[in-house]
Amino acid sequence: MIIGIPKERKVREYRVSATPQTTRVLVEREHRVLLEKGAGIGSGISDEEFKKAGAEIVESEEDVFKNSKLIVKVKEPLKEESPLIRKDHILFCYLHLAANIELTRTLEKTGVMAIAFETVELSDGSLPLLAPMSRIAGRLSIQIGIRLLEKPSGGKGVLICGAPGVKPGKVTVIGVGTVGYNAVLSALGLGAEIVVIDKNPKKLEFIHERFEGRVKTIPSYPELIEKELIDSDLVIGAVLVTGVKTPKVITGEMISRMEPGSVLVDVAIDQGGCSETSHPTNLDSPVYSVDGVLHYCVTNIPSLVSRTATYSLSNAILPYVLKIAEGKIKEDPALIKGISVDDGKLLRSLN
Ligand SMILES: NC(=O)c1ccc[n+]([C@@H]2O[C@H](COP(=O)([O-])OP(=O)(O)OC[C@H]3O[C@@H](n4cnc5c(N)ncnc54)[C@H](O)[C@@H]3O)[C@@H](O)[C@H]2O)c1
Repeated sequence: MIIGIPKERKVREYRVSATPQTTRVLVEREHRVLLEKGAGIGSGISDEEFKKAGAEIVESEEDVFKNSKLIVKVKEPLKEESPLIRKDHILFCYLHLAANIELTRTLEKTGVMAIAFETVELSDGSLPLLAPMSRIAGRLSIQIGIRLLEKPSGGKGVLICGAPGVKPGKVTVIGVGTVGYNAVLSALGLGAEIVVIDKNPKKLEFIHERFEGRVKTIPSYPELIEKELIDSDLVIGAVLVTGVKTPKVITGEMISRMEPGSVLVDVAIDQGGCSETSHPTNLDSPVYSVDGVLHYCVTNIPSLVSRTATYSLSNAILPYVLKIAEGKIKEDPALIKGISVDDGKLLRSLN
């Protein structure tokens, strides 16, 4: 099969969906890989390295789409990329359709088969193609949050580990799946006071046992969320119900009761965000304030560490790219769950 790898066009999206190593595997299996010129530069990979691995470098994104059957991207296609999508393409990338009705309609209209990384789901409910980026975003969410808590950033001027005689900062993590767990690992290493909130009792049980009670665990009820938010310095939004719009577990009223200079990093923003006050931002202008609470709502956080993210993502998707290229989509229940749109029809409920 001819596999096309376009350069990403979202604001400051530096990742690419292949590496020389994954390209070599595809070429050895007798597939052709067409890579748009410069697609790897943001991740520190030259065209020359891709060429050595067997990729064919093409001049433009149009050339990639025109001459390939399977398009493997990182992020969802932008509006200006929509005219390039054809019915006979298979599109494989993050889509987050629940937060993007316009893209959903466009994909339906083209008749393309679009398989979303984030809804490829194993029989135990785990998400093998979302998890690698969630691990990275979870770690980064704390790094981002602690910088925003500094006074010149508009934060309240709190050092997360505290100081002798001064209590540490409080971090509240809502949703303790992959993003949340990795946020906890980072925050714990920095000496923060940590609270996690999740609606799944099993997750709370795991955190309680794993950290031997050092992390406070709270079930997800509005009044308990409000109580924890009021004196939190940093809140990490990491709620997900697979494939659907994120439930708004934080209300505008809760935000208004937090101290000015507190920070919300709503990682769940790609699926719509878990606060009523969240709206998507980008890496050029990542932060805005609501009632003095700084909101960081970037939809492509892992791009900040593009090299790590590119290698991690491309390794995870490779087995699935191979299955698709070998015509075995329908033999893999995990991939079938990833099919969001096919032949003009939306195959997943987004609510
Ligand atoms: N912004 C970015 O760049 C970026 C990067 C990676 C992941 N993400 C997003 O982060 C979000 C979390 O991803 P994940 O991989 O950690 O998902 P996950 O499925 O591993 O974890 C989600 C957690 O939310 C919990 N949850 C569901 N409903 C809840 C509720 N009402 N109250 C409290 N908890 C609830 C679940 O029990 C689960 O523990 C997703 O939207 C994902 O797309 C964003």
